[in-house]
Amino acid sequence: MGFFPKARASTKLRGFTSFLVFLLSCLNFSFSDAYDVLDPRGNITIKWDVISWTSDGYIAVVTVFNFQKYRHIQAPGWKLGWSWAKKEVILSMYGGQTIEQGDCSKFKGNNIPHCCKKDPTVVDLLPGTPYNQQIANCCRGGVLSSWVQDPENAVTAFQVTVGQAGTSNKTVRLPKNFTLKAPGPGYTCGPAEIVKQSKFITPDKRRVTQALMTWNVTCMYSQFLAQKAPTCCVSLSSFYNNTIVNCPACTCGCRNSLIQPGTCVDLDSPHWASALSSSRKNSDTPLVRCTSHMCPIRVHWHVKLNYKEYWRVKITITNFNYRMNYTQWNLVAQHPNFDNLTQTFSFNYKSLTPYASINDTAMLWGIKFYNDLLMEAGPSGSVQSELLFRKEKKTFSFDKGWAFPRRIYFNGDDCVMPPPDAYPYLPSASPHMVISMSSLLTTILASLFLLLAYN
Ligand SMILES: *[C@@H]1O[C@H](CO)[C@@H](O)[C@H](O)[C@H]1NC(C)=O
Ligand SMILES: *[C@@H]1O[C@H](CO)[C@@H](O)[C@H](O)[C@H]1NC(C)=O
Ligand SMILES: *[C@@H]1O[C@H](CO)[C@@H](O)[C@H](O)[C@H]1NC(C)=O
Ligand SMILES: *[C@@H]1O[C@H](CO)[C@@H](O)[C@H](O)[C@H]1NC(C)=O
Ligand SMILES: *[C@@H]1O[C@H](CO)[C@@H](O)[C@H](O)[C@H]1NC(C)=O
Ligand SMILES: *[C@@H]1O[C@H](CO)[C@@H](O)[C@H](O)[C@H]1NC(C)=O
Ligand SMILES: *[C@@H]1O[C@H](CO)[C@@H](O)[C@H](O)[C@H]1NC(C)=O
Ligand SMILES: *[C@@H]1O[C@H](CO)[C@@H](O)[C@H](O)[C@H]1NC(C)=O
Repeated sequence: MGFFPKARASTKLRGFTSFLVFLLSCLNFSFSDAYDVLDPRGNITIKWDVISWTSDGYIAVVTVFNFQKYRHIQAPGWKLGWSWAKKEVILSMYGGQTIEQGDCSKFKGNNIPHCCKKDPTVVDLLPGTPYNQQIANCCRGGVLSSWVQDPENAVTAFQVTVGQAGTSNKTVRLPKNFTLKAPGPGYTCGPAEIVKQSKFITPDKRRVTQALMTWNVTCMYSQFLAQKAPTCCVSLSSFYNNTIVNCPACTCGCRNSLIQPGTCVDLDSPHWASALSSSRKNSDTPLVRCTSHMCPIRVHWHVKLNYKEYWRVKITITNFNYRMNYTQWNLVAQHPNFDNLTQTFSFNYKSLTPYASINDTAMLWGIKFYNDLLMEAGPSGSVQSELLFRKEKKTFSFDKGWAFPRRIYFNGDDCVMPPPDAYPYLPSASPHMVISMSSLLTTILASLFLLLAYN
């Protein structure tokens, strides 16, 4: 008998979280906070381990851990900066380098420091760096995988020899004002904090060594800091209704913007190919194909087939950006039926459980050497997969837009969904979902329907 109240509570909780998620996903532009409901503890931690004191400073191994479940850093890679507290200089480095040496004119003889700037910026070395300049986990060109996708490559490290610095844990001064670029903005780093010294196990596992001193810095991501406009949108269709619900117009910008006209490639124009090749060289800003939504990425969710016990969805990710190949891309999708996902075709899958008991969120990414590279806009600029779900009789429905995702992220960025009142609906269903009032009211009512549907 004790089973029933528990089960009821969990469906209530599920209804409530879906309600919240629905509400959030409908407030299209509310992605501004650093707190990510699907990865609330996601962060990048930078750990400094002092491995020896020298006559005028110390040698430290700096390790960067990407603890974010689904946000990675792709080429051209991360840049880590800080300000020295006093007159410290970097005498030498392994597995990384500063992008500028700065003014080392005070130093004489052969031992010119690697970097004399007060605020050095460090980047990773490239793959193929000579072995005598490497350390473990370095030299991947600044690429840092996400924790779920590839934990081995979610860690990177370099070693610094610091001079004109404190030579004991009483006199050393922690660096300040850490910055992490990926390579653009988005991360905010906290202050360095002294923590328990790290322990290291030797490769033969027979000895444990210990850092002389350790400090940590935590950096958090905010999409709001990274870019002002969304970068991704969702379109929907289904076998039971031939309406294709496109991405909301002007999601990522407006095509005929008076402020920045001609910032997209118009395939209807006879000169698009030459316009493209001449504009391709310039800058890192996205150059997208002209569409009504102007997003670099569109995720299409098609409800494809209905079997007796299963149903099938086709997901297509299209790249509209002529200036970007997305390596190691990933997609996060939230739908209540993910706890009964039976098969994914041609994508890797792992379930994420942001709320311990609710298994409704999936991370999907490409298969290595097959479709892990989402090519620049054009004939190869899309990847697709199909998902097979087993119907759960209590909740399954094609009604009320239930078959569509609640939330989608591409590479960790929120993808803007069409408004719920635009979803394709069953021809037979009474059009009680078509509410053309203010969008807030629509949202609340749609969410209430959902809530009721769960209870
Ligand atoms: C950073 O992530 C790690 C791993 O998930 C976690 O243990 C740690 O508490 C997080 N730090 C913060 C400040 O959230
Ligand atoms: C760190 O940044 C703050 C605010 O930007 C500034 O006031 C301070 O001088 C900086 N510290 C160092 C050591 O550069
Ligand atoms: C410091 O960072 C390391 C690596 O992420 C982690 O293992 C350790 O628990 C952190 N210490 C504290 C006190 O956050
Ligand atoms: C500093 O070093 C002393 C020994 O010299 C040691 O007892 C102490 O734990 C160290 N403190 C930190 C924060 O590493
Ligand atoms: C994307 O990759 C292809 C093949 O490696 C390359 O030819 C193309 O120049 C790349 N595009 C961009 C924008 O980097
Ligand atoms: C969530 O459900 C899927 C599909 O049944 C299953 O493969 C996965 O292991 C589940 N995850 C957890 C954490 O229960
Ligand atoms: C769906 O998943 C839930 C939770 O994992 C499980 O209790 C239920 O039996 C599954 N339903 C079917 C039809 O497989
Ligand atoms: C399909 O759904 C749309 C709403 O997106 C609705 O306007 C249309 O009438 C539906 N078509 C049919 C045949 O029911």
